[in-house]
Amino acid sequence: MNTLNLVLILLTFALGGSTCARLAKWLLEQIQLENKLIYWTLYVIGVTVLWPICVVLISIPTGQFRFFSNYIKRIGEKLFGRKKNKPSRIAIFASGNGSNAKNIIDYSKINSGFEVALLVCNNPEAKVLDVAKEFDIQSVVISNDDLKHPEELLEKLKESDVEWIVLAGFLRKIPLEIIQVFPGKIINIHPALLPEFGGKGMYGSKVHLAVIESGKKETGITIHYVDEHYDNGDIIFSAKCEVTKEDTPETVQSKVHQLEFEHYPRIINHCLQKQTVR
Ligand code: GRF
Repeated sequence: MNTLNLVLILLTFALGGSTCARLAKWLLEQIQLENKLIYWTLYVIGVTVLWPICVVLISIPTGQFRFFSNYIKRIGEKLFGRKKNKPSRIAIFASGNGSNAKNIIDYSKINSGFEVALLVCNNPEAKVLDVAKEFDIQSVVISNDDLKHPEELLEKLKESDVEWIVLAGFLRKIPLEIIQVFPGKIINIHPALLPEFGGKGMYGSKVHLAVIESGKKETGITIHYVDEHYDNGDIIFSAKCEVTKEDTPETVQSKVHQLEFEHYPRIINHCLQKQTVR
């Protein structure tokens, strides 16, 4: 919150408070009550009821509607109990086969913590588009240019009421403009133990080959928040599996996939529940 916002919020409080006091007084004057006790009881009730209405109405011209509607909603929740959380709406960004996307969608069908509202894909040939079709999920195919100028994509995400973005094998960098609109709300999974074996160009079997060539005895998955660099944001969760001398990139990939299927949807769900306040 900056200083201007703070001043506007205080101004809204002051104007809302004095308007509702005057309004309550004026309404009571119309009834012309003799009894002081009844007058003051009704005055207090009137001010209590009119205060939120006046403050919210005044917050529109002062540009603070969002702050005050949330504020009053929270007071309401305290008084009358919290409504059950609606499922968060997520968009999956994927470029490939979509086995993770399918697993996440399957999970969302039995756990109501989130729902997949949109699939974003940068490859018109990707099998993940069939997954979206199978589950009747709206999909949008974007070009590299759309990512460089993401206004239209952002509009689409807004239209679909998307609150979180989940990357499941998306091979393009997420532009800063999107990160800024979804701060701390973009999650990625990397098929190795970051910070090793990550970065530009490290995807798919290239990662598994590099792990085998390094002679490491274990690999795994890393689920992390997305920032403006490849595979760099804060780590949320990681899980390991063994790498043996007999392993090939394909066998490592299959072990890693098992870990992904086991953990990714539930970690997504966990992140969403923790931060969803509605
Ligand atoms: C997964 O291994 C994931 O870790 C990585 O991309 C792969 C996507 O595989 N980010 P799939 O398309 O879900 O099968």
